[in-house]
Amino acid sequence: MEKPIGRDLESAKNINTTIGRVFDESQIYRIDHYLGKETVQNIMVLRFANSIFEPLWNHKYIDHVQITVSEAETLGTRASYYEEAGALRDMVQNHILQLLCLIAMEPPYSLDPDVVRNARMDVLRGLRPIRGKEVEQMTVRAQYAHGRIKDKEVPGYRREEGVRPDSTTETFVALKVFVENWRWAGVPFYIRTGKAMPKRASEIAVQFKDIPQILFNAPPHPSQAPNLLTLQIQPEEGMALRIISKTPGSKAQTHPVEMDFKYGDAFHVPSPEAYERLLLDVMAGDASLFMRRDAVEASWSWVTDILQGWATYKTKWLPEYPSGGWGPIEAERLIESDNRKWRSL
Ligand code: BG6
Repeated sequence: MEKPIGRDLESAKNINTTIGRVFDESQIYRIDHYLGKETVQNIMVLRFANSIFEPLWNHKYIDHVQITVSEAETLGTRASYYEEAGALRDMVQNHILQLLCLIAMEPPYSLDPDVVRNARMDVLRGLRPIRGKEVEQMTVRAQYAHGRIKDKEVPGYRREEGVRPDSTTETFVALKVFVENWRWAGVPFYIRTGKAMPKRASEIAVQFKDIPQILFNAPPHPSQAPNLLTLQIQPEEGMALRIISKTPGSKAQTHPVEMDFKYGDAFHVPSPEAYERLLLDVMAGDASLFMRRDAVEASWSWVTDILQGWATYKTKWLPEYPSGGWGPIEAERLIESDNRKWRSL
């Protein structure tokens, strides 16, 4: 089954119940094509096949995580679907929450499909609900306005064919999310995704905590950029680790440098398409990379709270961002009010 599996918790449950009358859960393969991407599968390998990251992978060492999925594409010919969906349903309920699950999950005790899916599921269960007043504080939605992406002029979303002229469907969303468990207590996960942004780029950035300002960055020296691990999902597939190095010379000066790994350079073979991998897994009966009923419903349950919050703050206009821009000023404020910044990609 391909998405959309519902448009809120209730409709998702209805679909699952209807399908469940005909098929056993073990016969149902719900696709989230992000889980079929090579770089997404590598998140578990990075975390659990290396010894150096996992000891640091918690609230003691990680300051925050940023997940960005930006698309340069606009609505295209999908108005009838997208008008009813919007960025939260289209991208966050499924793809982005699954990325978050892989980053935040506990180590599963085996690679058995249900053991892995249980571990991802626990993250969804631990998501702090965003309800009531918090919806305004922790979420930003916006619509693209007229602008340019590269050399192409783009009309505003409301001017697109098939879109209601007074549409309040969001084409961009930014969220501040917490996973309430021992590992992640107090660590914000900032999420942003949108259409009509400057370029296609999906990245997860794990920012480590600042070091004490005692040695190389003691005043009056400037503070140092923190260590940062970035996982580039697409279109560049790879990862990079920012570390601080000594600037050559007689002074004790430092400078950030990057250790950089690109899939293409290391393996010289193209990654398979997500759907190639997923269809092969269906034939092999391996459900690890598919969405179980409880996970679909848990993520809808969390998203539905936000949708209900938005519905109570009825608005005629959403904040706008120019096509070809990185989102509205409100999204900057969401992260800057915590003294952090979105990464420039
Ligand atoms: C789909 C969404 O699920 O994912 C689209 O419906 C979106 O709106 C697409 O463009 C993004 O997928 P990818 O693989 O191009 O990042």
